Amino acid sequence: MIELRNFVKNIRPYKPGKPIEEVVRELGIKEEIIKLSSNENPLGPSPKAVQAIKEKIENINIYPDDNCFYLKKKLSEKFNIPPNNITVGSGSVELIELIFKAYVNPGDEIIMSDPSFIMYKIACHIFGGKRIAIPLKDHAHDIETMAKAINRRTKIIILDNPINPTGTIIRNDKFNYFIEKVPENVILVVDEAYKEYIENENYPNAIDSLKKHENIIILHTFSKIYGLAGLRVGYGFSSTNIIAALMKVRLPFNVNRIAQIATTAALDDDEFVKKSYKNNEAGKEFLYKELKRLNLKYTPTYGNFILVHFECEAKNVFQAAQKRGVILRTILEYGLPNSLRITIGTPQQNKRLIEVLRKII
Ligand SMILES: Cc1ncc(COP(=O)(O)O)c(C=O)c1O
Repeated sequence: MIELRNFVKNIRPYKPGKPIEEVVRELGIKEEIIKLSSNENPLGPSPKAVQAIKEKIENINIYPDDNCFYLKKKLSEKFNIPPNNITVGSGSVELIELIFKAYVNPGDEIIMSDPSFIMYKIACHIFGGKRIAIPLKDHAHDIETMAKAINRRTKIIILDNPINPTGTIIRNDKFNYFIEKVPENVILVVDEAYKEYIENENYPNAIDSLKKHENIIILHTFSKIYGLAGLRVGYGFSSTNIIAALMKVRLPFNVNRIAQIATTAALDDDEFVKKSYKNNEAGKEFLYKELKRLNLKYTPTYGNFILVHFECEAKNVFQAAQKRGVILRTILEYGLPNSLRITIGTPQQNKRLIEVLRKII
């Protein structure tokens, strides 16, 4: 057998939510299957993005713009950030990988919460970083303990805000306290994948912190509220130094032509974003009420998903729901065997979810 790099030997590959097609193949289910396992937008993609794709699909014989000029221009206008301070990747997961690729030497310490978005752990292992995992406190980042863990070997700190899988946020005051504790030679990654679902005065304005701190990178994605997970586009804001470093280690043409066109158009789709936000808020309220009726505990969320806790191994609930055509997400790899992470769906999907849960439990 050909020997793997040492760092790679023990990596457990990322396990995404099961695709609908796979469940149909495995179980031969006839009724409509609903997928509430990957925090996608249940309303579908931004219509403006779809229209833009239809208009430009003929040009795919041409390589994409390697610099994503128009997408960066649009982002620059929307967020009031110069294009040189913007980077775009094939999903925000690519940007996470690039940060590690550019900065992590084997043995560098990477501070993250446990659990937090699983790709942080995987990227850390791929590049031989030493993972410093700080357990969550009351399902939220334990900011004080994270700050105490910083030392001269620390290279990167990653905060998902809100956290995947618990859905809790770091509040303004704690965020501001924390960024002052992070030395300038340590990169602070603030992953705001679900940002657009939050309208709350306590949610930090991370972009403001870029003015004072060259070592912060903020990540956003088109995969969630814009409904474009299938196109794989994420973007980051940071200092020109960090943006230039990421450029050095990425592959050319990392964001395809169609993805650039669609996401540029989606940035104008305020109506769709608003509709998606409202659907999520209404779904959250409905699910909170119904989960309480079912006597199920859950963690109140700021994202488009809810972590639901069971008295038994959640795998059993997952399998029973899947047999009834509802795909949920176990999060064993996050160390939470009794919980399922459930995406908030359309009103019909949420109703069906509750009916299925009622039958199972
Ligand atoms: C916190 C967090 N960051 C990043 C991502 C990945 O986003 P993308 O589709 O842009 O790679 C996810 C996806 O579930 C996530 O939960």
